[in-house]
Amino acid sequence: MPFQLSPFYIIAVVLLVISSAILNQGKTTPELELCVSHAQPNPLAELFPNNATGVLNATLAIIPISLETARRLIPPQYGILERAYRALLPDFPEGMYPVMVQAAHDHDIQFRAYGITIDDFSRVGFEFPFLDLLGDGYSSFRWAPAQLLTASHDIAVQGSRDYGTIVTPAEWDPPCDAYRALPNGNTFFKGKSISSSEFIEVEMSRLKDLSLNPYPLELFKNITNQPTFASSSSCDNMIRWFNTTMSVGEFAPAPVLGRIRANAFPYEGTEKEWTAVYGVQVATPFIENNYLDCRTMQGYVGTGGPGDSNIVEGGNIFNQHMGMEL
Ligand SMILES: *[C@@H]1O[C@H](CO)[C@@H](O)[C@H](O)[C@H]1NC(C)=O
Ligand SMILES: *[C@@H]1O[C@H](CO)[C@@H](O)[C@H](O)[C@H]1NC(C)=O
Ligand SMILES: *[C@@H]1O[C@H](CO)[C@@H](O)[C@H](O)[C@H]1NC(C)=O
Ligand SMILES: *[C@@H]1O[C@H](CO)[C@@H](O)[C@H](O)[C@H]1NC(C)=O
Repeated sequence: MPFQLSPFYIIAVVLLVISSAILNQGKTTPELELCVSHAQPNPLAELFPNNATGVLNATLAIIPISLETARRLIPPQYGILERAYRALLPDFPEGMYPVMVQAAHDHDIQFRAYGITIDDFSRVGFEFPFLDLLGDGYSSFRWAPAQLLTASHDIAVQGSRDYGTIVTPAEWDPPCDAYRALPNGNTFFKGKSISSSEFIEVEMSRLKDLSLNPYPLELFKNITNQPTFASSSSCDNMIRWFNTTMSVGEFAPAPVLGRIRANAFPYEGTEKEWTAVYGVQVATPFIENNYLDCRTMQGYVGTGGPGDSNIVEGGNIFNQHMGMEL
């Protein structure tokens, strides 16, 4: 989120990093010392030293809502590309639209060639994929209007606000991981505003019977690779790789089922709870190209436009071995 490759921005980031280092000198920072993430290191920094890279360890979950509600929540100028999500989800209930909750820990963010590393942070929000931002009838974009985000992380807070995102500075449980285990074996992740009653809480159990999971991993790969926008004309092009060692073996994507409770945009005001929410827990490294003009992303490989040769097969690939086939 927080980078673009303009010299000014790099200088600004370096200055922020230096000044926070100076501020921290001689101070004991017990929170930081306690904050040891369990996430794996970023494998793309070496391959793409001139790009912003990192790791997102996330719970991604789908909340089906009615198309009428979707139409009410999503700004009217953005069409909903129902055909695009039905291509991936032929059995998705009639008249419904998939909202994605993304609850993630951003880890080991680097701009290797510039020697820049950025502290980890957490964020969670409701995201609206498969939107016709450009009015061309085929390019899918994802509207991510609001996030709770680590309050102390000035660079990430500002970087997200620069997209026009409504950022709610928040604190986290667990403080520096994608989730923690509850005594009952479920995973837990909660972001809570430091200044209001807003929060989003995600509790999930791992599905043992994979065939119960209604959503193919391909759906999450597709959604998370759609360019993201908030309320400005700039888009975030995050390229998430689902084919590295971070997504195989002990780290293979885990289908989950659980509940989400929230009081946060666009469901702010009263607390809401969704039960029987299905999703996946997966960590993916990413390359991030920030603040692109959305119009330049028409028909981009992630959007489903013409020239997009990345045609996907249906089926539930949780049952298959992850790896090169993606
Ligand atoms: C993702 O986070 C969970 C919870 O902290 C951790 O157990 C897991 O190892 C992480 N995955 C990777 C690939 O770092
Ligand atoms: C890396 O950054 C450059 C410059 O912004 C960009 O042109 C290139 O597409 C990026 N690489 C990837 C793999 O996105
Ligand atoms: C892994 O996935 C990325 C993004 O989808 C792709 O660019 C890359 O070529 C893939 N690598 C391998 C070894 O398949
Ligand atoms: C996403 O799904 C659409 C079909 O809706 C497809 O055209 C596009 O290639 C997919 N994109 C990726 C990156 O898999």
